[in-house]
Amino acid sequence: MKVTALAHQHQFVHGLATFSKIHPRSNVRRPNATAFHVRMSLREDAPSLAVVGVTGAVGQEFLSVLSDRSFPYSSIKMLASKRSAGKRLTFEDKEYIIEELSADSFSGVDIALFSAGGSISKKFGPIAIDCGSIVVDNSSAFRMDEDVPLVIPEVNPEAMSHIKLRSGKGALIANPNCSTIICLMAATPLHQRAKVVRMVVSTYQAASGAGAAAMEELEQQTREVLEGKRPTCEIFKQQYAFNLFSHNAPVLSNGYNEEEMKLVKETRKIWNNMNVKVTATCIRVPVMRAHAESVNLQFEEPLDEDTARTILKNAPGVVVIDDRASNRFPTPLAVSNKDEVAVGRIRQDVSQDGNYGLDLFVCGDQIRKGAALNAIQIAEMLL
Ligand SMILES: NC(=O)c1ccc[n+]([C@@H]2O[C@H](COP(=O)([O-])OP(=O)(O)OC[C@H]3O[C@@H](n4cnc5c(N)ncnc54)[C@H](OP(=O)(O)O)[C@@H]3O)[C@@H](O)[C@H]2O)c1
Repeated sequence: MKVTALAHQHQFVHGLATFSKIHPRSNVRRPNATAFHVRMSLREDAPSLAVVGVTGAVGQEFLSVLSDRSFPYSSIKMLASKRSAGKRLTFEDKEYIIEELSADSFSGVDIALFSAGGSISKKFGPIAIDCGSIVVDNSSAFRMDEDVPLVIPEVNPEAMSHIKLRSGKGALIANPNCSTIICLMAATPLHQRAKVVRMVVSTYQAASGAGAAAMEELEQQTREVLEGKRPTCEIFKQQYAFNLFSHNAPVLSNGYNEEEMKLVKETRKIWNNMNVKVTATCIRVPVMRAHAESVNLQFEEPLDEDTARTILKNAPGVVVIDDRASNRFPTPLAVSNKDEVAVGRIRQDVSQDGNYGLDLFVCGDQIRKGAALNAIQIAEMLL
């Protein structure tokens, strides 16, 4: 069953989660929220929620983040495919029955958190909007639509300022691609100081980015290879354990794959800067959870590495791990299940003259900040 790959992080009841609080809170400033958290999440006056794709890697993390952040709700509809309909799950001491997603699912729903893939978002997103719901969508289906805000709360919260909860008008806000979120969490504070003119990104992406089934397959393949068996290759069609390969997204006519072009296009949209030059190479590595990225930046204004380090230390949602003496820098393991994006290897790019170039190494939990946490921060801005 799909959900077991995530059981390392959560305790499961009826195959799904009762969530333990293991994640530190993000230090994101939230416009209408106080720093004061009381466990009063289930409240009559709070928004009604729907989680679409609740049995998936991101869907489960939605529940975990909702609970961690005491997100207020009056009710939650747990929605997935026909395969999961009727299964029970316990969330915050209450038992829920998973319902099959249908056109009737969104009546009375204020906020719908979508993570069931692009085709589901395309079909049911507009239906939810027509019902007056605000959809926060994790898929790429609507990200590049001109009238859809593409939001990282620490970076461009203003993009969704016109969207109001319970205004009688539904809307859709898109969550950027996980690699884009992790990259821009680190690059944006520096961009705001010295203006990035060109960015070169190389990613080292974890199994979790491809969902719960890919995590299971990595585990299974690792076991099979160690036992001298032929590895089962159903998700990626090639050996993943003890290997790495170009990202599995479709390759386009320009030779880039879709994941790489998402980094290019989404950066321009989020920074509202069509001139910024971005190139990317995206690679899958046999890491269970959390992406790593090498980011090379070229600036319009000079920026020395000490100033960059100070800027990053003060950036919301970012932690600096940059200990040259002990060779300690960000790792996927160090950021797994954490809210913050870690940045290290902060150094002047010796291939660029003056202080116009920097290299960084960035790690972030892409199910959390790259997906569920970012989406729930967006939902918090609606409160
Ligand atoms: N994993 C990440 O790090 C990440 C990051 C950013 C964005 N995303 C995006 O989030 C979405 C989900 O990713 P994931 O990694 O969570 O995938 P996943 O683990 O494979 O989960 C997929 C979810 O979608 C549900 N689903 C599938 N077909 C459905 C249908 N016909 N009707 C209703 N629900 C259906 C599944 O329900 P059943 O269990 O019933 O099949 C499951 O809950 C994708 O769009 C992905 O691109 C993922």
